[in-house]
Amino acid sequence: MMPTQLLQTTILNEQFLNIDYSKYKSSVASIHHHLEESKDEATGWLNAPLEDNENLIHSILAVANEIKANADVLVVIGVGGSYLGAKAIQDALTPYFGKQPNGIEVVYVGQNMSGAYINQLLTSLQDKDVYINVISKSGSTMEPALAFRVLRQYMEDRYGEAATQRIIVTTDPESGLLREMAVEHNYRQFFIPSNIGGRYSVLTPVGLLPIAVSGVEIRQLLAGSKEAAALLKEEDLEQNEAYRYAVIRHALYTLGYKVELLASFEPALANFHDWWKQLFGESEGKDQRGLFPATVNYSTDLHAIGQFIQDGSPILFETLLHFHEINDDYAVPFDARNEDLLNYLTDRSFNEINATSKQGTALAHAEGGVPVIQLELAKLDEYHLGYLIYFFMKACAMSAYLLEVNPFDQPGVEAYKNKMLELLKK
Ligand code: PA5
Repeated sequence: MMPTQLLQTTILNEQFLNIDYSKYKSSVASIHHHLEESKDEATGWLNAPLEDNENLIHSILAVANEIKANADVLVVIGVGGSYLGAKAIQDALTPYFGKQPNGIEVVYVGQNMSGAYINQLLTSLQDKDVYINVISKSGSTMEPALAFRVLRQYMEDRYGEAATQRIIVTTDPESGLLREMAVEHNYRQFFIPSNIGGRYSVLTPVGLLPIAVSGVEIRQLLAGSKEAAALLKEEDLEQNEAYRYAVIRHALYTLGYKVELLASFEPALANFHDWWKQLFGESEGKDQRGLFPATVNYSTDLHAIGQFIQDGSPILFETLLHFHEINDDYAVPFDARNEDLLNYLTDRSFNEINATSKQGTALAHAEGGVPVIQLELAKLDEYHLGYLIYFFMKACAMSAYLLEVNPFDQPGVEAYKNKMLELLKK
């Protein structure tokens, strides 16, 4: 059955249906007010979709069109929140093989420090015209900074002075080394609003420029997020699906389920899972608290980790992401030989079989005692993904505050950086 709302949250196990929402009512309401009324440094994403952003969209589309007209490939340099969202949407909405008719190839670097990766990327660029978009809010993160050093030299060697036109910088409007370099060398810039942190920034130029270049309709994506920003302003937790999801997660966490497993049945969503994992992992995992966000892609992973989920340590609950309509499909052909005994499936669509497998998996896991939350949306498209992005961001902020941790900082990330720098400078 299609969901009756844009996004419907359902718990599939009877024993978890009786979550006591009344217990959460007042804390959810006070966090809601804190979020909605806060003018602090990190909540700019909350109302951004409701603001007039026509000029910004116009300039992003103009640069995207210029890139599409003058390049075969856009190289995006960024890590964490500065690349995961763009990659997530691009992979979810562009073809599995080949590129979107209205887009060009978009590749990513600066999210790791593999010498092999960057060397092979440079080799792959040889016969292609290139633009680069370097994205870093702080402007000094090691992975993208190193990649930019290499790519900038590559662009200058190849295009001479014209390289300036082909380098687009997305960074903080006021501070950071990248900002200084952009000013010094006259690179065109897009800004990450100061009050929006990396993992909440996919709907800013951070995500929108690469997504537009890949051929995905950013206006529809933004329209979906606008709808979510309006609907999810509801204070009453039983009417607000994002808050309901946050409360269900919290209730399961307090029951001892410490791992949330995000699962879906469409491989195109693998990178969307990664975006979700970073959003929740960096927002909640602090002060010795937080659910560990893990992800699986079914049915592939049913043949890898399905055994553990069904029967292993009872530490996890599952959040099943289900889109009722997927834009492409294939029907099972008739085969007169029927040696594989599959003729009973003749003319059934792969998506229909996949959806049935989802239903069976959910039932089996729920019956096996794994709590299963289902998040249902009508269609895998720009509009519904825009809605879902905002839904998760709002749920994440609520979830973190329910745990009494700050959703918008990431002090723990500094520990490895400091150790690495100590070692590198030795
Ligand atoms: O969510 C965050 O703030 C982080 O994941 C950052 O996006 C990531 O560390 C990259 O930072 P920057 O954009 O400053 O290079």
